[in-house]
Amino acid sequence: NLLVHIFKPLSFLSVIQHCSPAWCLCSSWWGGVQMGPPDPILGVTEAFKRDTNPKKMNLGVGAYRDDQGKPYVLNCVRKAEAVIAEKKLDKEYLPIGGLGEFAKACAQLALGADNEVLKSGRNITVQTISGTGSLRIGANFLSRFHGGPRDVYLPKPSWGNHTPIFRDAGMQLKAYRYYDPSTCGFDFKGALEDISKIPEQSVIVLHACAHNPTGVDPRPEQWKEISDLVKKRNLLVFFDMAYQGFASGDIDRDAWAVRHFIEQGHNIVLSQSFAKNMGLYGERVGGFTVVCKDAEEAKRVESQLKILIRPIYSNPPMNGARIATTILNTPELRAMWLEEVHGMANRIIKMREQLVAGLKKEGSSHNWQHVIDQIGMFCFTGLKPEQVERLTKEFSVYMTKDGRISMAGVSSGNVGYLAHGIHAVTK
Ligand SMILES: Cc1ncc(COP(=O)(O)O)c(C=O)c1O
Ligand SMILES: *[C@@H]1O[C@H](CO)[C@@H](O)[C@H](O)[C@H]1NC(C)=O
Repeated sequence: NLLVHIFKPLSFLSVIQHCSPAWCLCSSWWGGVQMGPPDPILGVTEAFKRDTNPKKMNLGVGAYRDDQGKPYVLNCVRKAEAVIAEKKLDKEYLPIGGLGEFAKACAQLALGADNEVLKSGRNITVQTISGTGSLRIGANFLSRFHGGPRDVYLPKPSWGNHTPIFRDAGMQLKAYRYYDPSTCGFDFKGALEDISKIPEQSVIVLHACAHNPTGVDPRPEQWKEISDLVKKRNLLVFFDMAYQGFASGDIDRDAWAVRHFIEQGHNIVLSQSFAKNMGLYGERVGGFTVVCKDAEEAKRVESQLKILIRPIYSNPPMNGARIATTILNTPELRAMWLEEVHGMANRIIKMREQLVAGLKKEGSSHNWQHVIDQIGMFCFTGLKPEQVERLTKEFSVYMTKDGRISMAGVSSGNVGYLAHGIHAVTK
């Protein structure tokens, strides 16, 4: 009868559920999965947490701290949150490309509101899951549509996550010289030499400002030469701008390279993050922009970005985008934000100066000028791996093995201790 037909297949399932443990064991699904290495940066934090030394310092992660060493929520963010709460907005889905007002304000912030690209409508910006999500959507887009070689050239060194982001999207990683260990500065000559040999139509990644991990940026005259050379090689430029405003304290100054390249006729792609400059780390607010040949091309690109995003996360989260949009589009909050970004950048610059002054006071005879000259959240100290190891073991100062320290984790309370430790392991 009918019931037998329905229940017969189900009783077969119940046999599987009641299988013997031995049967389940030998059919383990993940027996071939190897233990992976811990994340190099987040691993530093784990070791830091286990340390019981009250003087311990975590200079590994790139998140801003105030002068008391506490995470810092910007006042403009608190105000924007209050404005948003007051409005009792709904929680319907955002469109695939995110909040339209946000995308617009995001592009205007990067390119400048009166940029010709925006006026002629040959831009497309989608809201993304912070900078990482933006880079990944960009990498996937290149992987699917870029007609040139699949090679992506990163500065050597670059942010550690760039490699797996592009690799997992199916691109191949290559590198161009960037950092000169002998000067702890920019290897301009090496960069030009390497870029001049990159096969035409390859992709080149440029950090728009506050290069991570080195803190070393090209000067405007150097950017101009890089732009000319990149044009000569006909390379597709992928700008990663994770620190607009955070480098110099001035959002326009930090966007100079991006705007110069566009002015010079480069149709760039651009990744933006609001993690650092608005302190919205966990809210995951970012944008991905493609500058196109014309408005018609922008429409086609937009359609394909939506097709790409839809099966990954359908549409982005709304809260952080609402906060950022409220700040960018409310004159009082925007003014407040500009002041607070400036304040964060300045505190970091002050810590650089105090660290160098502290090293001199300790009696260090090394030249530490690069600590002051480098820009943004990170400082590439030049410490060797064995010196880093000693600093961690003997002074409980935690950082990545490459000698990078997050200046945001340094405060007036511990800068003297840090100087003492660095001097002890470098004298
Ligand atoms: C160079 C660079 N790009 C992108 C990001 C993206 O960060 P998020 O995904 O938090 O916006 C970071 C953050 O450390 C970065 O340093
Ligand atoms: C291009 O920028 C303008 C001005 O910011 C904006 O109104 C428009 O929506 C953008 N176009 C796209 C497709 O994102």
